[in-house]
Amino acid sequence: MNWSGRSLAGGCFAVIAALGAWSGQGHAQQAYPTRNITMIVPFAAGGPTDVIARIVTGHMAQTLGQTIIIENVVGAGGTTASARAARATPDGYTLITGHMGTHAASVPLYPNLAYHPEKSFEPVALLAGTPILILARKDFPAKDLKEFIAYVKANESKVNAAHAGVGSVSHVSCQLLESILKIKPVSVPFNGTGPAMNALVAGQVDYMCDQIVNAVPQINGGTIKAYAVATPERNPSLPDVPTTKEAGLPEFQAQAWNAIFAPKGTPKEIIEKVNAAAAKALNDENVKKRLLELGSVIPAPADRTPEALGTLVKSEVAKWTPVLKPAN
Ligand code: MLT
Repeated sequence: MNWSGRSLAGGCFAVIAALGAWSGQGHAQQAYPTRNITMIVPFAAGGPTDVIARIVTGHMAQTLGQTIIIENVVGAGGTTASARAARATPDGYTLITGHMGTHAASVPLYPNLAYHPEKSFEPVALLAGTPILILARKDFPAKDLKEFIAYVKANESKVNAAHAGVGSVSHVSCQLLESILKIKPVSVPFNGTGPAMNALVAGQVDYMCDQIVNAVPQINGGTIKAYAVATPERNPSLPDVPTTKEAGLPEFQAQAWNAIFAPKGTPKEIIEKVNAAAAKALNDENVKKRLLELGSVIPAPADRTPEALGTLVKSEVAKWTPVLKPAN
């Protein structure tokens, strides 16, 4: 699968204090976790990242024996929350579910980004791959992808595209689509594709490039149109939705990913404990069923290690930087 950082007065006191801090830290690490963990989600509640984080952390909390509190911190395509997570104390009690946007594509798009996906975070665990779909409001005047392409090209200045902020998956995916189609529609940013999807269903915006987990219930409910899934194969959760290749736009291939990160300097033992809890969750039949029903791609065991996630982030930053720098 291609997925696709005092001193103390008095030497004696300083030594005692340091020993106390050392033994306290060691105890905290052994006992981790002894209190609630905060999982920051960098987008609005109800969107794809929020849904994936809630499904997986629900099971992880049982394994870790502590509540995992989801905190939705929105703004600036997920970079506000990511900057906050990067500055958090690296003790395992503040984690973030980031994605292809916050932890790769944001790098070339935000010249003054307050964090770096590789330097400011410890990779913890890849949770899910999320194929991208081309979606439109249900009364959009195009019955298939060919008609959609013709319509948006002919009405470029009139159509608008919803997304979750600059650097979000929905923004970057549609930028890719729009560069292929050579169009510049009106851009309508939201704090996540949860609220963007509500606007699409209400017919307030025209189209969107969104992660599959946000779209399956709406497509199956007939409240929006799906023109194509941007992966080589159809998705089992949406057997009637053609691939972009089948629908005549093979150049548009896009799949995002969502993953857990910890602030740089979080102890290795804690990373390993959180990673093991995530891996256990992904092996749980109920968790798997819920993720698969929403069209997610569950990472193979070899792709679930912190090291594999670190490699993925590195390759994704390298992949998106030349693609998005010119657009920036
Ligand atoms: C969300 O949860 O709202 C999304 O992951 C936003 C996006 O990146 O498009």
